[in-house]
Amino acid sequence: MSKLWGGRFTKKTDQLVEEYTASISFDKELAEEDIQGSLAHVTMLGKCGILPQADVDTIKSGLLKVQGMIRRGELEFTIANEDIHMNIEKALLDEVGPVGGKLHTGRSRNDQVATDMHLYLRKRVVEFVSLLNKLQEALIGQAKANQDTILPGYTHLQRAQPILFAHHMMAYVSMFQRDIERLQDSYKRINVLPLGAGALAGTTFPIDRHFVAEQLGFDSVYENSLDAVSDRDFIIEFLSNASMIMMHLSRLSEELILWMSTEFRFAELDDAFCTGSSIMPQKKNPDVPELVRGKTGRVYGNLFGLLTVLKSLPLAYNKDMQEDKEGMFDTVRTLQGALQLFAPMIATMKVNKDRMRQAVNQDFSNATDIADYLVNKGLPFRQAHEVIGKTVLYCIQHNKFLLDLTLDEYHQFSELFGQDIYQVLQPEQVVNARNVYGGTASNQVAAAIERAEAVKAQTDKWCEEYIEKSK
Ligand code: ARG
Repeated sequence: MSKLWGGRFTKKTDQLVEEYTASISFDKELAEEDIQGSLAHVTMLGKCGILPQADVDTIKSGLLKVQGMIRRGELEFTIANEDIHMNIEKALLDEVGPVGGKLHTGRSRNDQVATDMHLYLRKRVVEFVSLLNKLQEALIGQAKANQDTILPGYTHLQRAQPILFAHHMMAYVSMFQRDIERLQDSYKRINVLPLGAGALAGTTFPIDRHFVAEQLGFDSVYENSLDAVSDRDFIIEFLSNASMIMMHLSRLSEELILWMSTEFRFAELDDAFCTGSSIMPQKKNPDVPELVRGKTGRVYGNLFGLLTVLKSLPLAYNKDMQEDKEGMFDTVRTLQGALQLFAPMIATMKVNKDRMRQAVNQDFSNATDIADYLVNKGLPFRQAHEVIGKTVLYCIQHNKFLLDLTLDEYHQFSELFGQDIYQVLQPEQVVNARNVYGGTASNQVAAAIERAEAVKAQTDKWCEEYIEKSK
């Protein structure tokens, strides 16, 4: 079979070269976008009088036939046709004859492939905003169900101060909100049309790039033809956003894994989301969070891979750039897998309120509060800190907690202690004392949940609008 670019050549391509340079095995994923772009391009060629309308109509119906064949899995892709663009063009030629060869007028594969990637990624961005929104919903659900569940908060993985479990869940809601906003913001850089840049310098044909942009729902067109075909920033930005999302999922995974351990027993993932051991009958393993934590590595890898491909690459298209795809597809699949599982896994997680409460009763996470108590009685904070440090040491040496000490024992450390400390030290009191905006007091957390729900409703609206827009 002769190559679409075969005119200049006198020899057949070496078989190994053909295999080495072909991208069809992975860029076939861009088939829908490729046809979508071609339909808009050929419509424009007709509108601008570059092709007669009859040819345009023939090419369009041919493209739709090829689209149907691909959707039904009837088109056999071959590496002899190198990539998705030429596989589709060949199929079009087979379908409509030589007139199909007019489709590529005023276009290059360089602006074509870039257009496909822009179309592909803008759909993924909307999909991921929507998946993150569902995960937030699950986290908010757990927060609402746990507005009175107190657990130790940690720093250095050491018990620090008690917090509401709802507050802990809402921290992740905030993290994923930043991810949503980053994706939403990236949309405007993704939704820019490269087509019309030609190979690198533009085209001699009197095309109308803005008309193509309008048909494809792009908000703008690339200002500079060289930049249009050289730019992969939008993919790197996506891979970076994906890395951040995975990093957040991985942190949550780590906590779930800890909470599932016998040492913590703070939470239990539903059986449907865990697996067993082939040898140890007692095991119930948190494989999903473990795998998400593990897969974070490949998502970072894909980001660094592409950053490195682009480093030092001269303008404009270089074949190196074909390496932008596999990592991107892999990241998309990895993220889809993780996010699809996380929302139902969080929604069905059992929270062991009693166990968390027990943990809070048996630690010194209320120590800051008696230091603050002494401050309120006029002692400078540094001195109060010293006094309580000694009190805690005394407790450890006598196998007691702060609530176990008698007032006489307290008086060994300071005369300022009164009967009211026993009230101050109660976990509910400790939590509710942190009544600042963004703090863990229950009224603050309730307000945070309310605000998050309002933001979530806005994201719902955004998704509705952009699912339509990005089609
Ligand atoms: N398969 C190529 C890629 O993915 C398409 C662009 C090819 N352009 C070229 N001038 N060889 O990068």
